[in-house]
Amino acid sequence: MRSIIDVPDLSTQEIQALIDTASDIIAHPDDYREACRHKKLATLFFEPSTRTRLSFEAAMYELGGNVLSVTDAASSSASKGESVADTARTVSCYADIIAMRHPKEGAALVAARAASIPVINAGDGGHCHPTQTLADLLTIHREKGAFGGQTIGLCGDLKFGRTVHSLINALSRYEGMRFVLISPAELKLPSYIKKDVLRSKGIPYEQTTSLEEAMPQLDVLYMTRVQRERFFNEEDYLRLKDSYILDLPKLRNARKDLIIMHPLPRVNEISTEVDPDPRACYFKQVLYGKYMRMALIMMLLKGA
Ligand code: NCD
Repeated sequence: MRSIIDVPDLSTQEIQALIDTASDIIAHPDDYREACRHKKLATLFFEPSTRTRLSFEAAMYELGGNVLSVTDAASSSASKGESVADTARTVSCYADIIAMRHPKEGAALVAARAASIPVINAGDGGHCHPTQTLADLLTIHREKGAFGGQTIGLCGDLKFGRTVHSLINALSRYEGMRFVLISPAELKLPSYIKKDVLRSKGIPYEQTTSLEEAMPQLDVLYMTRVQRERFFNEEDYLRLKDSYILDLPKLRNARKDLIIMHPLPRVNEISTEVDPDPRACYFKQVLYGKYMRMALIMMLLKGA
């Protein structure tokens, strides 16, 4: 039984195979319409989501499969006190694969240990979010042609932003990557990621509070939302929420071939005046997420 809890669960060859499959789906969607016929995906979402849940469900429908869905903890037995492990064991009796989002770090791992079907982590608290990273990787691959030798700016809430954690994990496998970590002092990247991923692999990185100063060197700018739901007090959130707002004047010193990414939802981090700029890739990223989830579901069901 194969589950995907975070990016290290996938080898670099498997990531490339997923990118190749997603690219083939984009080129020949009709070839995949029956790929998961009679299979069921259960989406168990105990935390809000628009893109991730709907893209998993759209992915399964486009593969000819079916979907069972829990969209709200309050409407499931979790509200009666059922454990994640028992829920996973139960859903294993109904479905062939689970995509799960949960507010607690480690919940997907607990589910995977209890389930008898593959579990995909669709976000566990402030920890990680591997399928968003697959969407991000396909975006970078299609927009930049390849991975390697790029300077990646990550901006915003690097402390609680789980998409950032998984993306650094993935990109740090490729040659010549550099990271510029742009955040307020309170929302810096957790030290365990700096130590276990960046320093242990000798990957160069710098930390700054200034988006403007970082801008000219960036090949990729990955903006993130300040994660309100992970804050202990509202005052801190209100003070930090608008730390970075990307607008056209801030892009004046950016490279012509910069790509601007954001896992979405955005709150104020990117002014809508940036949307028509050819460097804005965040809505393409949404679409690529569906193709990568199709590729991942197929891979896991084949191995199941
Ligand atoms: C992200 C998430 O849920 O972590 N969104 C997503 O899945 N596309 C980012 C966020 O909520 O800020």
